[in-house]
Amino acid sequence: MASELRLDQLPSYAKLRELADKLRKIAIIEFLTVDAARACDFTCSAAGLQLDYSKQLIDRNTRETLWQLAAEAELPARIQDLLNGAEVNNTERRPALHTLLRAGGNGALADKYREVVATREAMRVSAEKLISGQHRGFTDAAITDVVNIGIGGSDLGPRLVTEALRPYQNSIACHYVANVDPADLQDTLLDLVPETTLFIVCSKSFRTEETLTNSLVARDWMRAAGASDSDLRRHFLAITTNLEAATEFGIPRENCLPMWDWVGGRYSVWSAIGLSCAIAVGWDNFQQFLAGAGAMDRHLAEAPIASNMPIMLSLLEVWNRNLLGAGNHAVLPYDQSLVRLPDFLQQLTMESNGKRVALDGGALDYPTGPVLWGSAGTMGQHSFHQLLHQGTELCPADFVLPLTTHTGMHKQHRRLVANCLAQSRALLLGRTEAMAKRSLLSRGYDEERATALAPHLAMPGNRPHNVISMQSLTPATLGALLALYEHRTYCSSVLWGVNAFDQWGVELGKEIGAQILTLLEDASRPSSMDPATNRLISEWRRAQAP
Ligand code: F6P
Repeated sequence: MASELRLDQLPSYAKLRELADKLRKIAIIEFLTVDAARACDFTCSAAGLQLDYSKQLIDRNTRETLWQLAAEAELPARIQDLLNGAEVNNTERRPALHTLLRAGGNGALADKYREVVATREAMRVSAEKLISGQHRGFTDAAITDVVNIGIGGSDLGPRLVTEALRPYQNSIACHYVANVDPADLQDTLLDLVPETTLFIVCSKSFRTEETLTNSLVARDWMRAAGASDSDLRRHFLAITTNLEAATEFGIPRENCLPMWDWVGGRYSVWSAIGLSCAIAVGWDNFQQFLAGAGAMDRHLAEAPIASNMPIMLSLLEVWNRNLLGAGNHAVLPYDQSLVRLPDFLQQLTMESNGKRVALDGGALDYPTGPVLWGSAGTMGQHSFHQLLHQGTELCPADFVLPLTTHTGMHKQHRRLVANCLAQSRALLLGRTEAMAKRSLLSRGYDEERATALAPHLAMPGNRPHNVISMQSLTPATLGALLALYEHRTYCSSVLWGVNAFDQWGVELGKEIGAQILTLLEDASRPSSMDPATNRLISEWRRAQAP
């Protein structure tokens, strides 16, 4: 591991700084107009996806320099480290082997791969027993509903995949409960029947407060319906690395599927953590999902820097973040079934690259992972796109566009596509004040009013963005898309010199939460927190008084 890497010390970085100063004054449309081949050349394809980055604020020279930067950071070697099981998670002394979960085989990692294959088989058996109705509840009724109880990586991936692949959904409905707010579980259980419901407790650590609390309530719900302790075996499965804690909870070993410390939570949808999606869409579709990701892995490993899609996405992320100063990044899927994609990517990218020190612990004096946000088009157009077009914040974006729809409603889908392409073009071109004024005059405004209004209608354009398209959203293209973002995340972490696989920043809040809970549970305890927290605790205590 190159733990001493600093992005701003790489030889090409100084040149990129100069280029950024120069390019800031140029309109992206000029590149497209002058360079007739750009619209085709600034694209790359892999695993059923196409990336169009022709509307980024880079020219050919900058692109070459970014490729040079990737070479100087030894990105191809670092990618091999990831794929070959090197200790890329240096603070926890582990590899990050999510790619092994969708591999067709791996000689060097044969022992681990054998466990992966055995677990896949156990998943297949569990999923098929449920789908075929063989797995029955304590009254011998077939299971109709599965509730995945988990949070973070044990929720967001499976939830996204289940929703995104709704057209492939079979007869078992999968539900997701994550929040420790009792309303989440309560609302979910409202429509369910204990006799036909199965819970999957998904927790890599089996120590997560939200998941354990919800699982205990779910167990009480089953008991209240008359299930004995031995009946519960038919209604609870666990996915965890912590088999002891799961058995202590009352889930027998034969109902547990393993996880491994060499798979990070936010990279785990490909493991048994994805069991609920395999149940929702069936085993063959889940295999296709793994295969799509596997195809992206091979592309990452084999494609040269210049045509490597995850590397290119990552270089653009770093260019926009560090050279153009963009502190955030929007993800705009133009497909309702991908409405959860921004949520999933928030954990993937911000828990991975929201870091302030390098691998060697030294503080970084350049920015790392941007704030990621977004929502499905066209809803965003009627809310935050205003800021994208006219705000003072530079906000690079990824449009994600399946070119066809599963709905069969092609005429309406055309409108969705038209909106996506229109937003992309408006971000590119904007509208000058003179154009705005001409349009106002043609709409009957008088000269004075048109002059006054024109600055409000003017849009600078030149907002850099990518378009990631695919023929249609299938299990395979969804797998490729998620793997693409995983790899972008890793490549960017290498360029920034940070560890993408730990998340120490989430721990302090958990510790303080436990301390505060003791104060909420026992009102007689004096609170010795800071004055502001003490005041809120007192306010809460007063609110509980009858
Ligand atoms: O608190 C953060 C985190 O550890 C995430 O990284 C993880 O995905 C989530 O909590 C859930 O953890 P677990 O699967 O161990 O319950």
